[in-house]
Amino acid sequence: MRQQIAAANWKMNLTLQQGEELIDKVLNAGLTLKEQQSVLFAVPFPYLPMTRQKLGGKPGYFACAQNCYDKKSGAYTGEVSAEMLKSIGIAYAVLGHSERREYFKETNEMLASKIDLCLENGIRPVFCCGESLHVRESGNQNRFVEIQLRESLFHLTPEDLKKIIIAYEPIWAIGTGKTATTAQAQDMHAYLRLVLQDHYGKELADSMPILYGGSVKVSNAHELFSSPDVDGGLIGGASLVAEDFIEIIRSLK
Ligand code: 13P
Repeated sequence: MRQQIAAANWKMNLTLQQGEELIDKVLNAGLTLKEQQSVLFAVPFPYLPMTRQKLGGKPGYFACAQNCYDKKSGAYTGEVSAEMLKSIGIAYAVLGHSERREYFKETNEMLASKIDLCLENGIRPVFCCGESLHVRESGNQNRFVEIQLRESLFHLTPEDLKKIIIAYEPIWAIGTGKTATTAQAQDMHAYLRLVLQDHYGKELADSMPILYGGSVKVSNAHELFSSPDVDGGLIGGASLVAEDFIEIIRSLK
């Protein structure tokens, strides 16, 4: 079975102390992860060492960065490189979140560089894609998301593509309480798998985790995650409440 993932994206929320408490609660919830299940905590940069330390190499639990810069090193005040993340033992990074694309003008091309730098440093990217409401209303969502994939990922060798986790996050569903229907999520995930299959073959496409993000809640997680092509979620708001995130982890296949 494909890897099934519940990824918490804290964004710019929580103090260090609140974050510590939240991770403690999740770790003490008595969850037993199945072999294919993983839990990621995408936390702000300063909390990565704390997160790693708390998770303490517990199988299936990983600290994850929310971003990294698209250059190797140099005079880029305030930025964090993939190599720096590697040097503190980080194995996952969210890349291309729609908030970064919108507020920090990240392009598909910049994201291709970030992907390469992460892979060079042994970091698995959680690559975010997804369309705006405008694109969805014009019916062009499949084409739009396909281009995001093509321009940021399709230069990769099959061996490298295998390390990518895709997160489909329709922008109109993020933080709005308006979740994509299970059918909308499944349709897009199946389409993306087809796009991957066309370029890389069925076996590789079938092996890649594709997560759904956008107002995942306790009340909809189980249904969303039971869709054949939905391999878990990237969760914002609901991941800030330990009890909710715990239930969402329990909803994984
Ligand atoms: P919400 O779960 O708050 O809608 O956020 C989704 C998201 O952006 C996760 O990366």
